[in-house]
Amino acid sequence: MKAAILIGGQGTRLRPFTLESPKPLLPVLNRPFLEYQFRVLKAHGVREAVLCVSYRAEDCKRAFGDGRRLGLKVSYVRESLPLGTGGAVKNAERLLGRGTALILNGDVLNAFDIRAFLRFHRAKRVEISIALTRVKDPTLYGLVLTDMEGYVRRFLEKPSWDEVESNTINAGAYLFEPSVFSHIPAGKTYSLERGLFPERLAAGAKLGGWVAPGYWIDIGTVEKYLQVHLDLIEGRTPFAPGPGAKLLRNAEGAKVSAGPGVKVAPFARFSGAVSLGRGVRIGKGAQLSDCVVLDGAEIGDGARLERCIVGARARVGTHATLGPGTALAGGSRVGDYSQL
Ligand code: GTP
Repeated sequence: MKAAILIGGQGTRLRPFTLESPKPLLPVLNRPFLEYQFRVLKAHGVREAVLCVSYRAEDCKRAFGDGRRLGLKVSYVRESLPLGTGGAVKNAERLLGRGTALILNGDVLNAFDIRAFLRFHRAKRVEISIALTRVKDPTLYGLVLTDMEGYVRRFLEKPSWDEVESNTINAGAYLFEPSVFSHIPAGKTYSLERGLFPERLAAGAKLGGWVAPGYWIDIGTVEKYLQVHLDLIEGRTPFAPGPGAKLLRNAEGAKVSAGPGVKVAPFARFSGAVSLGRGVRIGKGAQLSDCVVLDGAEIGDGARLERCIVGARARVGTHATLGPGTALAGGSRVGDYSQL
């Protein structure tokens, strides 16, 4: 089976980091985010991936090339302007061949059993199956309601609490039979989630909804991009960090992932889970709690960081404070004693 992975979006909710890099290439513990999902594909026998690129397409091609390094065969289809999730998949039709295709959002990390998903899809004899995941707060997402047999009954966008009948949302992974492509308009902006799926349901088609057990996260926002680091470091996922990133634990029980060339001055203190990219420097007496410092950034003496992300090559002055939710752009400067 071949996979098409959608990685052409601009990632506006994850700015400023996506101004420098497409979302699927952002580093997570010393590895481009999408490489974690590639490992899941390989583990389930998927060896060919078509990457649907648009925003910063050349960066993606440079990062993954023909895929040999990753043990996959990778090819690319490019939209000159992003055509939405549906338009992007339609573009990949020719490269996906005649079999059932796996379609994935490239900003999701999903440790799911692809073979079990395929068995479900075949047993239901449907042309589209949607992988679902359970979330704590369904009001933030598009809900997908299924019947007892696993067929999709209804789509419900960002429901209020009194409309909530279930907590299963679209996990951003689908199985398509080749016949599906005839229902997607070519060369036009079109959405799978808001166009194809509800339209096929309204037309009387049966769609499968399979609840995928296992770890799932969508890194679409700064908070979630931070969260995926914390989850990996805390061992809440089945994934190991990338090459060269060491997982260390200090006497207070904090867990730190450190990339190659990290320098930590005396009396620096860590708590919770902290990720330090390649060549990061931490000043004397700095305090870091549940945060991410990307490649080449420098944290000044006595600075305090909590639940925030410091972009690559940024410099945080001495005794500066970065509070929860701070997202410091790559290369930026924070003055001594500043409070953000
Ligand atoms: P936001 O601007 O923050 O909403 O992010 P996004 O542009 O990535 O959109 P969204 O999170 O809805 O996208 C889900 C997945 O589909 C991501 O992996 C995107 O890269 C991808 N995607 C979204 N729109 C397009 C598109 O027009 N073309 C391609 N090729 N991929 C897309």
